[in-house]
Amino acid sequence: MKFFIDTANLNQIREANDLGVLDGVTTNPSLMAKENIKGEANIKQHYVDICNIVKGDVSAEVISTDYEGMIREGKELAALHPQIVVKVPATKDGIKAIKYFSDNKIRTNCTLVFSVGQALLAAKAGATYVSPFIGRLDDVSTDGVELIRQIVDVYNYYEYETKVLAASIRHTMHIVQCLEAGADVATCPLSAILGLLNHPLTDIGLQKFLEDYKKVNG
Ligand code: E4P
Repeated sequence: MKFFIDTANLNQIREANDLGVLDGVTTNPSLMAKENIKGEANIKQHYVDICNIVKGDVSAEVISTDYEGMIREGKELAALHPQIVVKVPATKDGIKAIKYFSDNKIRTNCTLVFSVGQALLAAKAGATYVSPFIGRLDDVSTDGVELIRQIVDVYNYYEYETKVLAASIRHTMHIVQCLEAGADVATCPLSAILGLLNHPLTDIGLQKFLEDYKKVNG
């Protein structure tokens, strides 16, 4: 399973990248706003800056909700850098735009996916990635990880090439559950990635090893 970081914060992207296990980045308009990135030129430059930090795919989301606007924006975003993947919502115009981009060799991430039906249309339109939002489903008492499992099963059975990118991950157990469910990618906040390392027995064990070393070596 690949690891993407879900942020537009350059310091966090650098920190995750320095671990050596980062495969890409996802952003969305809320994450860009959180970093106070505003204005078309600054937003585009920010995507390029992210691409210059990591080696993998970087999702950049369209703001337009109509087909023509999505196509114009998506072409501009894709032209910024070869690592850019155009993020398009799972709407009627979005699916049409994904089909256009797929026919024109522009890679896409179909976002705001909350059902197998949306994932099916994204795959049929040729999306590179589909992003089911598991945390937001959990927030409304629906099992988000179960949706990952269902989409993985359907894609495997029908041999769709679209990759399942588990999004809206809130904690380390989500990452482990997505791994078990067969997700191709998990996009996570830095805290959840680093949280995978937390174990008291590791800390206690390391402390004991160092104490024993000091007893003999001074
Ligand atoms: C990533 O592609 C999504 O935009 C993101 O994971 C959404 O996460 P949230 O539900 O925590 O906002």
